[in-house]
This record gives sequence, structure tokens and C-alpha cells, in this order.
Amino acid sequence: MAIKFDTRYPSIEDLRRKAQKKIPKFAFEYLDGGCNEDVNLIRNTAEIRDIQLKPNYLRKHHGSSLKTKLFGIEYDAPFGIAPVGLQGLMWPNSPEILAKAAFEHNIPFILSTVTTTSIERASELTEGKAWFQLYHPTENRLRDDIIKRAEAAECPVLVILCDVPTFGFRPRDIRNGLAMPPKMNLTNILQAIGRPHWSLQTLKHGIPNFEVLKPYMPKDLDLKQLGKFMDQTFSGRLNEEKIKPIRDMWKGKLVLKGVASEYDTEEAIRLGLDGIIVSNHGGRQLDAGQSTVKPLATIAEKYGDKITVMMDSGIRSGPDVARSMASGAKFTFMGRSFMYGVSALGKKGGNHTISLLKTELQQVMEQLCCEKTTDFPYHLIK
Ligand SMILES: Cc1cc2nc3c(=O)[nH]c(=O)nc-3n(C[C@H](O)[C@H](O)[C@H](O)COP(=O)(O)O)c2cc1C
Repeated sequence: MAIKFDTRYPSIEDLRRKAQKKIPKFAFEYLDGGCNEDVNLIRNTAEIRDIQLKPNYLRKHHGSSLKTKLFGIEYDAPFGIAPVGLQGLMWPNSPEILAKAAFEHNIPFILSTVTTTSIERASELTEGKAWFQLYHPTENRLRDDIIKRAEAAECPVLVILCDVPTFGFRPRDIRNGLAMPPKMNLTNILQAIGRPHWSLQTLKHGIPNFEVLKPYMPKDLDLKQLGKFMDQTFSGRLNEEKIKPIRDMWKGKLVLKGVASEYDTEEAIRLGLDGIIVSNHGGRQLDAGQSTVKPLATIAEKYGDKITVMMDSGIRSGPDVARSMASGAKFTFMGRSFMYGVSALGKKGGNHTISLLKTELQQVMEQLCCEKTTDFPYHLIK
């Protein structure tokens, strides 16, 4: 097994612990937390880990390959980087660091509407390979303009989101003044001073900005006005009337993220979407909801030949990717794992985390005698 990562951090949990020491508490808690009592957050990983796989040691083995085809593109691994908002708050330049690492490792990177680099910059860093996730704008003009920018930047896949009809109820963010409208209070300032490396890097790179939205924002908004702007600009509740014009306008692949039911899957198929990401936003929206791996199995079995079924929420390792693929996902995504990596290791974090996950997954495949990533379901113990 060739080790191509920093051996001090051989697991996502090592990166998480390091990140906790490295960045201010309000930023770490924004990244790490779920919602309400964190039941859904914990359930996501716990139920993925209930899944067990069966090896066939004596089978002829010609080697294992992580390469996986998705929407006609061959990626070097069956996992990608999920869209995360406000990334620059956790570590300056983190969306750029991750986009570059994703490009070098040939895996997908999804840029969020509310993160801190622009569509154009993400596209430049990935030579047009970055996907884009659209939060639904209230005004059609704004929606069309953002979609045109994604098209001009040659994004191959547009991701729309159905699991944010309301902002999640997140006690830590409320306590830390990060709920909408955000407040920078004395406690947050003291927490930042307690993390000098983070503070220095943040000062060096400047206060993070919503780069995708900058062209539409009035200049010099204070934090309270920013909250108001966000509330007026986006309307999270997606429905047929909102999806149809996007489908008509977007010629590339269109994916619905946040699906957790058969009903929404059937709607996605009926409205002509190309794929779904079975996801509960990493347990940040509906604490009383199921883990994603539970509905995934039913959805993949029933609809897997009609629409491309992908999955995220709760994956923290190569074995977790294998368990999710064995349960029916054609492709997987992770949000926090990569952000722990960058928060912990800065510039080196993207490359480190991808290399670590690739190494772990390669080991699982060889251990199982699984040659292709499409073969994982044959190893599932039902
Ligand atoms: C801090 C944070 C911010 C997020 N922001 C967005 C976002 O702007 N858009 C989006 O579609 N999903 C967002 N998500 C959800 C992720 O795309 C993804 O669904 C989730 O992180 C997967 O769970 P995991 O963190 O357990 O891997 C966010 C998740 C986190 C942790």
C-alpha cells in the first residue's frame, strides 16, 4: 500500500480533531454541527457503518480500479466534493484549494452558490470540470443570469437543491451569532484571536466574500443587511414550476440534491432530471429524518435504471464509500470530510484528504476481491 499522505493524519477523525484546534470555535461548530439535537447527523454515519460486506478471497483477482464513469465522464474515484457554503470562513481560499485538488485527482468538485469563490474562478482552476449548485433565486432574472454564467464557465452538471425550504435550526450557530442575520460578537472575536494562524491567514487573504453573488449585491452591506439580502434573494422551496424552466434552459446534466423519498425521486424522473443525490444535507435540516443510506437502498433498487442515483451524508472513510456503493449509490459525495482536511492542513488539506480516501478505498476493494466500483453491490450482506 503506497502511502501518499501525511502519516500524522491517517483518518478523517484525525483531521477533524486537528481542525478543531486550528480554527475558531464558531467556524468549527458551523462546519461540524447538525441541527437540533444532532440525531440525524449521528444516525447518518452510524447506519452506514451497520452495513457489512463479504469478501471472496479465493476468486481470481486481476486488480482493483477506483475509476468510475458518471454522466459519460471517467473519474479516478467514485467520490466527489459536495457543495459547502461559506468555505472561506473555515479556511481562507478553501474552495480554491479543494477545486484544484479535485482537478488534480480527477474527481468532481461542486461549487455552492453561497461559497466564497466565483463560478468563473472554480471553472478556471478545474479547466471547466467543476459542477455548480444553485440555491433558488426568487427573481427569474437572477436565476437566468447565474445559470448563463455556469453555462459560459462550461460546468458539466448543474445541481439544484430541494432540502432547504427553511434554514435548518442549528443551536450552535444561533448561540455563535452565525444564524441569519449573522453577528460578529465579542466572543467570536476572542475565539479568532485564540487561533492566530487562522487569523493571520484570514487577514492575509481578506474577509471572505460571497463571490458568486457579488455582482448582484449592493456595495458595503453590513451583516444585518446581508441577512436581509439573502432572505429576499433566495426562496428555497423547490417545486415543478421552479424546476421546469431550469430544465428547459440547462442543456447539461441536471441533478436534484436532497432527495430522501420515493415521491421526490418519481418527481425528478417525471421532470426529466438526469440524476439525484440522496442526501439529508449532512443531518443539518431535519433532525427527525432518516439516515440517507436507508432510503438509498429502496430508491436505487426501484429507480436505479431510470435515473442516476448518487448519495451523500455521513461518509467519513473509504470503507464508508464502499458500504454506500454496495447499498446502491452509483457515486458518493462528502462535505465535512474535505473541509476538516483543509481546516486542519490548509493548502495541503485537499490533496491529503483525497489521497487518504483513495488509499482506504483501494485497500477495501482489494480485500473484498472487488475489481470494479460497480461490483460493490455483489459484496453486500443482506
Ligand atoms: C458547513 C456546511 C455547509 C453546507 N452548505 C451547503 C450549500 O451551500 N449547498 C448545498 O447544496 N449543500 C450544503 N451542505 C451540504 C453538503 O453539500 C452535503 O450534503 C453534506 O455535507 C454531506 O454530509 P457530510 O458532511 O456528512 O459528508 C453543507 C454542509 C456543511 C457541513
